[in-house]
Order: sequence, then C-alpha cells, then structure tokens
Amino acid sequence: PSIVTLISGRGSNFEAIVKIAQKEQWQVTFAGVIANHSEAKGLDFARSQGIPAFIVEHREHPSRESFDAALIEKIDALGADLVVLAGFMRILTPAFIRHFEGRLINIHPALLPAFPGLHTHQRALEAGVSEHGATVHFVTEGVDEGPIICQASVPVLVGDDEKSLSARVLAAEHQIYPRAVKWFLDGRLRIDGNQVQLQPPES
Ligand code: GRF
Repeated sequence: PSIVTLISGRGSNFEAIVKIAQKEQWQVTFAGVIANHSEAKGLDFARSQGIPAFIVEHREHPSRESFDAALIEKIDALGADLVVLAGFMRILTPAFIRHFEGRLINIHPALLPAFPGLHTHQRALEAGVSEHGATVHFVTEGVDEGPIICQASVPVLVGDDEKSLSARVLAAEHQIYPRAVKWFLDGRLRIDGNQVQLQPPES
C-alpha cells in the first residue's frame, strides 16, 4: 500500500511515521509529500529520504475548489491508499473529503471533541483543564469531527505555558499517529457510524 502525506510546516509527525515504518520495516510506499507552500520544512526531510516532495501552492489558485481539484489530481496520480494530513493547515472542501472518504486521516492537538479548531494549547490552558492531548481521526466534512481512531492524553502541569504543553502533546502525537497509520495499513480499522472499531490483528 502507499501513503501520500499533506503538510504545511515542520512535518515532525510525518517524520515520526516514516522513521517507525523504516525501523519496523512496514510494507508501505511513501508515494509523496505535498505541501501547500514551498517553505514547509517537512519537504526537506522528505527529500533527504528520497520521498518525492511536491508543492501545490494554494496562493496560485483562485478558489478552494480549484486548489483542492489540483490536490486530488496530484494525489490520485501518485496513487494513494491512504492520505495522511500531518499539520496541513488548509480547510478541505467537501468534494475533496468525499473523494478520499474512508482513507483520509488527520491528527488534531487536543482531546476531541474538546478544543476543535486552532490554538488548542492556549485554549486548554485558559480553560484550566488538567488533561490535554491529541486525537487521530478519520476526516469527515465537519472540521475536526469524524470517527476517532485513537487518542493520547497528557497532564497539564502547574507552570505550563503554550510551549511546554505543546511539546508534551507533540511527543504523544509522535507515538499515536504512526500506530494509527499502521492499524489502517493492516486493515484493522472498521468505521461503524461515527465510531471506529479496532479489529484484532491477523495472526
Ligand atoms: C501538530 O500539532 C498537529 O497535531 C497539528 O499540527 C501540528 C503539526 O506538527 N495538526 P508537525 O508539522 O507534524 O510537526
């Protein structure tokens, strides 16, 4: 099977997935990484690994629909069994989401349904929660909705600021995202309504 990853920035989740795949010798092809602008740092890591890196500039498109159509074309040309959103900071159109339905996953830096949207760490601090974390989920048309595959929680500690809290959450992201991807590749995720049933491993 093959994976196409969409990024907008540093790409540390993408890197975590690739490194574990290499270490555990997954039978997978990283068919490409696509960023929506050329400054996305994760493109450098992809190139260093010989993973094809592409830029589909959102600014060169007059509308979301046209940008997403270009993305779909690129992803389909690469041949993706799974599309992994890893810090991809563009809202996707319903047409895009429908096209990849059931094979499009995202990681969100909060314990959904708490704190959808942006600035999750700051908002968690302001709300005074004692636990925060990250969620891997299938993408459906509602932003940060969709069947949850797995979550990791981390404590919010006295004296935390956005930087310390986001670092703790990011470390947890790097644990759970590769695991969720592997489950998908192993055919272990069954979507049942808005729930995901994890199937036992085949022996
Ligand atoms: C992560 O916090 C992820 O949860 C969010 O964007 C950030 C991306 O980080 N969607 P990176 O680019 O994977 O380092």
